[in-house]
Amino acid sequence: MVKLTVVGSISTDFIIETEQRPNVGETVEGQNLSTAFGGKGANQAVAAARLGAEVSMVGTVGEDTFSDDLINNLKENKILTDNVERVTHLPSGSAMITVQDGDNSIIYIPGANNALTATRINDIQNTFKESDLVIIQNEVPAVAIEELIDICFKIGTPVLYNPAPARKLSKDALEKVSFFTPNETEFSVLFPGEEMEAVLVRYPNKLLITSGSLGVYYHDGTEVKLVPANKVEPVDTTGAGDTFNGAFGVAWAHGMSIEESIQFGNLAASLSIQKKGAQSGIPTIEEMKGSRLYEKKWHIE
Ligand code: RIB
Ligand code: NA
Repeated sequence: MVKLTVVGSISTDFIIETEQRPNVGETVEGQNLSTAFGGKGANQAVAAARLGAEVSMVGTVGEDTFSDDLINNLKENKILTDNVERVTHLPSGSAMITVQDGDNSIIYIPGANNALTATRINDIQNTFKESDLVIIQNEVPAVAIEELIDICFKIGTPVLYNPAPARKLSKDALEKVSFFTPNETEFSVLFPGEEMEAVLVRYPNKLLITSGSLGVYYHDGTEVKLVPANKVEPVDTTGAGDTFNGAFGVAWAHGMSIEESIQFGNLAASLSIQKKGAQSGIPTIEEMKGSRLYEKKWHIE
């Protein structure tokens, strides 16, 4: 069994389904409002756990009506929650998600997710030492992320950094991670004005640019490759990127090649977008194996 630690956000998603988005000053009628478990960190942890990894979650929730449910949901997904801390001065994290024609836009309110400190990251170094891979994203403070990248670099634990939502990070920190996985928008924030091709060449086997329904671009040391996404009609793409990251991480930690790990991640993401909500569609390893696109040689238990 591979061991993954996911450091990141744990949130409640408030999902509005609508046929039209309001313009400024306009009121429109929507179709449905529901709540679901989310947060990019939690989604990635759920993906990795459902795909058979032993996952430890590091994050922060509040002490409110949402916090018990947020923690229980992680436990139900067999995620270790010893490193999920509660704080009293901030509410649990949340996100307002508008879904229209299968595509989403999100307003994220960090709340307690912003209480993750560099000191705390420092205190739990052993968790990182024991991990085959550490996954992080941008819904927790940048100082915590930079500390984590530094520590993992020193102790030799590989880091997969998903720079979502878009935010700049020092080039020095980018050098220290094993992978970083921006989508095209996040890429242009990290590398303003630069061509994708030129930057891919500078970070071979390390920079993976996720391009939604097109697939994932990376440079394999010789040339730029596009690993195509699986063609599916999306119901809700929320969490597709998170599912990709969690699944890619599991495959890579199992020793699969980068290309195969991307294929594995792409398959998991394409299954995840066929259901509503960020987590409900994230496949289990059994569901992956049930897909006609699953390759026997992947043999992940
Ligand atoms: O990536 C999707 C997630 O990002 C949602 O679950 C929501 O919490 C947002 O922040
Ligand atoms: Na989904």
